Formats: sequence, C-alpha cells, structure tokens
Amino acid sequence: MESNTIRISEMKDHVGQEVTIKGWLYNSRASGKVQFLIIRDGSGMCQGILEKKDDQVELFDQVKHLGQESSLIVTGLVRAEPRSVGGYELALNDVKIIHPTADYPITPKSHGIDFVMKNRHLHLRSRKQWALARIRHTVIEAVRIFFNSNGFILIDTPIFAPAAGEESQTLFNVDYFGEEVALAQTGQLYLEAAALSHGRVYCFGPTFRAEKSKTRRHLTEFWMVEPEIAYIDLDGLLEVAEQFIYAIVQAVLNDRRAELEILERDLAPLEKIQLPFARLSYSESVDLLHSNRAKEHLQKQLDDKQRKVSELENSITQWTTEQDSAKKQWQKDKLSQQIQLAQEEISELKEQISNIPHHMELAAGFNWGKDLGGSDETIISELHERPVFVHRYPKQAKAFYMKPDPADPRVVLNFDCLAPQGYGEIIGGSMREDNYDDLLKRIQAENLNEEDYHWYLDLRKYGSVPHGGFGLGIERTVAWLAGIKHIRETIAFPRMMGKIYP
Ligand code: 4AD
Ligand code: MG
Repeated sequence: MESNTIRISEMKDHVGQEVTIKGWLYNSRASGKVQFLIIRDGSGMCQGILEKKDDQVELFDQVKHLGQESSLIVTGLVRAEPRSVGGYELALNDVKIIHPTADYPITPKSHGIDFVMKNRHLHLRSRKQWALARIRHTVIEAVRIFFNSNGFILIDTPIFAPAAGEESQTLFNVDYFGEEVALAQTGQLYLEAAALSHGRVYCFGPTFRAEKSKTRRHLTEFWMVEPEIAYIDLDGLLEVAEQFIYAIVQAVLNDRRAELEILERDLAPLEKIQLPFARLSYSESVDLLHSNRAKEHLQKQLDDKQRKVSELENSITQWTTEQDSAKKQWQKDKLSQQIQLAQEEISELKEQISNIPHHMELAAGFNWGKDLGGSDETIISELHERPVFVHRYPKQAKAFYMKPDPADPRVVLNFDCLAPQGYGEIIGGSMREDNYDDLLKRIQAENLNEEDYHWYLDLRKYGSVPHGGFGLGIERTVAWLAGIKHIRETIAFPRMMGKIYP
C-alpha cells in the first residue's frame, strides 16, 4: 500500500491520514498484545502502537525482539494524543525492519561522561545531544541573519597563519612545506584589511588554540564569528554587540522551545534579558570583586551547596531503603539510577564547595592589572541578570593590537561580554590601534617578529581609520543558552587537550 512519507515534525498536519515514517527505534515496551514503540526520525519522536493482529503474528514477534536503534520504516494512522511524546501517535499497520540492531551501547539510562564521549559518534543520537545540535544550528543561523541583514559582507579568512593573532603561547604549529606556520587563533587581522575595503565585514570559522587547561570553557578547536567595522568607536561596538546577542537569544527562544524543554533549561533568566546590557569598567569590576556583595554572594553559594548535599544524601539513604523493599526489578533499577545521579551530583557539588574558599581569596585579593580569571568572571556575571560588558582592561593584560584609551593610557579600549548565570566570557573585542608608529612600538615591545606584520602595518599607512570589532565563541554561547555546564557537548566532535577520538 502506497502512503505518504512524512517526517515526525509534520504529523500535526496529517491527523486522520495514513503516513509512512522512516527512522530508528529509540525505546520500546510490550504489554500483552500491544507494543509501544518510541520512534525517532531526526525531526522528532513519536509513539507507534502495534497491536497483535491475527495476520501479523510473525511481525509482532520480530518487532518485539528489535533492539534500540534498529532502523525501520513504519506505516500507520496519525492520531492526536496529548499524553504521547510530541502530542501525536501512530496506530501502526506495518513495520518494515531495515536493520535490526542488538546491544546498542548507549541506553536511555545515564552513562558516565567518559563513556559517552568515547561513543560520541553514537551519542549524537541521544535526545539531549539532538536538542543541543539544533540549538547550535539556530544560534549560527541567527548569527548569519544578523550580519547579512545589517550590511556586513562575509569574508573567509585563512586557517594557515604565519603569525600570532592572539597570545603566542596557544599556537598550534604546522609544517607548511618546511616553514613553521600556525593554525589561526583568530581571523581578525585579515578581517581588518577587508574592513577597509567593505566598511563592515565578518568572518566565521574554526579557530585553534593550544589551551593546556582542561576547563569547562576551553576547547582547542572552536567556532568563532568576528565582525569588524570601520569608522566606529567603543560605544558603537558595544551597541552592535548587545543587539547581536539579543537577536541570538530571541531566535533561540522563538525557534527552540521544545529543545530547551528537553534540556530542562529554565527559561525565565533568558526571557528576562533586555537591552541595554550592563556596562562596567574593569576598575569597577575590581571594586565589585573586593566588595562585601561578592563575599556574601559566595558565602551564600557555599551554604546553598552544602544544604543541597545534605538533602541529596538524605534522599540516597531513603532510596536505598526503598530499594531493599522494592518488589519489581524495574523499581529497583529506577531507584539505582536515581541514586547514581544523586551521587554524581554530590561529587560535583563537593568539588565546587572545595573551590569556593579559593575563589573568595582570589576575588578579595585581586590586584588591579591582571586579566580577570574564570572564577572572577563567574562572580561578576552571577551578580548581574543581563549580560554585562566589562570594558577598558589594563593594557598589560591584553593583546598588542588594542588601542589605548586616550583618557587613561594605562587601559585599552576593549571589552568582554560576560553571559549571565555565571557563564562568563562569550565575547572579546576592542578598538584597534590605528596609528602606525604606536602599533609598531607595541609589536616591538611584545617581541613579535616585525616582518610578519608589515602588511598589517600597511593598513595604518594607507587610509587608516578608527576601527574595531569583536569575536563571539559559538560553543560558549550555546552552552549558556542551553544551560549546560561544559562546552564539550555543544559541538559534534569536540577537540580538547587529551581528547581527539572519535
Ligand atoms: O577574546 P578572544 O581571544 O578574542 C579574539 O580572538 C579577538 N581576535 C576577537 C576580535 O576582536 N575579533 O576570543 C573571542 C571569544 C571568547 O570570548 C570566547 O567566547 C571564545 O572566543 N573563545 C573560546 N571558546 C572556546 N574555547 C576556547 N579555547 C576559546 N578561546 C576563546
Ligand atoms: Mg578573551
């Protein structure tokens, strides 16, 4: 029988019709003469109901033995069913088994992070990973729409880079026909050249940094989008940056509600985000770190986390008792999964608790002149409900190309944007030194190889103008919007120190 092939996301338009769906078995359960199959097809999930009919006994038995992730093509009648996953279900008439699968390693129960990361090629099919990839897709779509509809021209900058664009300690070296070059840490320097051709440009591509720190915010390969604008000042840049982030937040809230729900993201903090964002100078941030407010904030976190640990420990004791008296195996399994999750949460909380006193010390003893550290950024961002721009950092802590503030040459005209809820830096940007002599002095002072930068200095020789731009890290932005802790799950195949498989 011919029937209309549709995707699960289109079921709402086919209620009462017979349709065919091509997908995979996510989960199943049998109850006497009925089987409930959770089917996924990439666009969503639905429940298929297969009844044991006299002329389909053999099929019923085959389906009963199908393992998770078997691929299948099903045909059935679409019914609205609010209680069912996705709101619709399929009364199945036929199941064609394409590839029966046994022993799929990633089951719907929880697994340790090392295990799933080793099986990342399969992990991508899991529900949360599916949701994350779709949020990332929308973030990137919003990025492109924003720049394309605001007069920016896309420029693709090179990945093979003969000179450092940011700190030279994080370069990945490559043998380029006998010459040592590096993988690009930024497209910015090349983009500055293009900005003097088009006025407003952006580049978007993979970025490489040999980050030797294994933190939740660092990858060695990440995607960065960088706009660069001629004839702009720092205030103008901040306005572009806040409108840009606002547009991304709105796109995700509009288009990815279902995915945010799967990830159990609390939407209230995202919905609260309004323009303008907060603006804080670096010096004001240092005062904030030294303040009682910061101290009390950390003390409260410490108390809250300790309370949470004892609550979880009590629950574990209770679940362990329940486990002993549970009659059914599935009840025991469910409790043991709850216990495992609670234990994982406790060990994370205990680690955080052990770090808080150190973070308190770092904040209270922060010396003007240093770059803000991860824990400092976390504190500042937790003390704000909207993203916050920290601007005008000490010159000594920042890259050679940043323009000093004429009003206070100890600081540069730069900014970082810190995402709320402790997510920390998602954007770094600045005005660029546009004076030939001053830029040359900075290049020399930083002991950079002058020859590598002749072309870059030329931009200050021919029609130099005030210009600036910024870079937004896609993975950190996705982690924030999706509300997940570690950025490793925001990219399909993460690259980190000590991790290159698969
Ligand atoms: O602050 P960064 O280093 O700025 C630049 O590269 C400038 N050239 C940008 C510009 O002005 N055109 O990096 C920008 C952003 C950070 O705010 C962060 O979101 C992300 O890139 N980022 C990383 N993301 C993941 N892993 C890493 N190791 C990252 N390093 C930076
Ligand atoms: Mg930065």
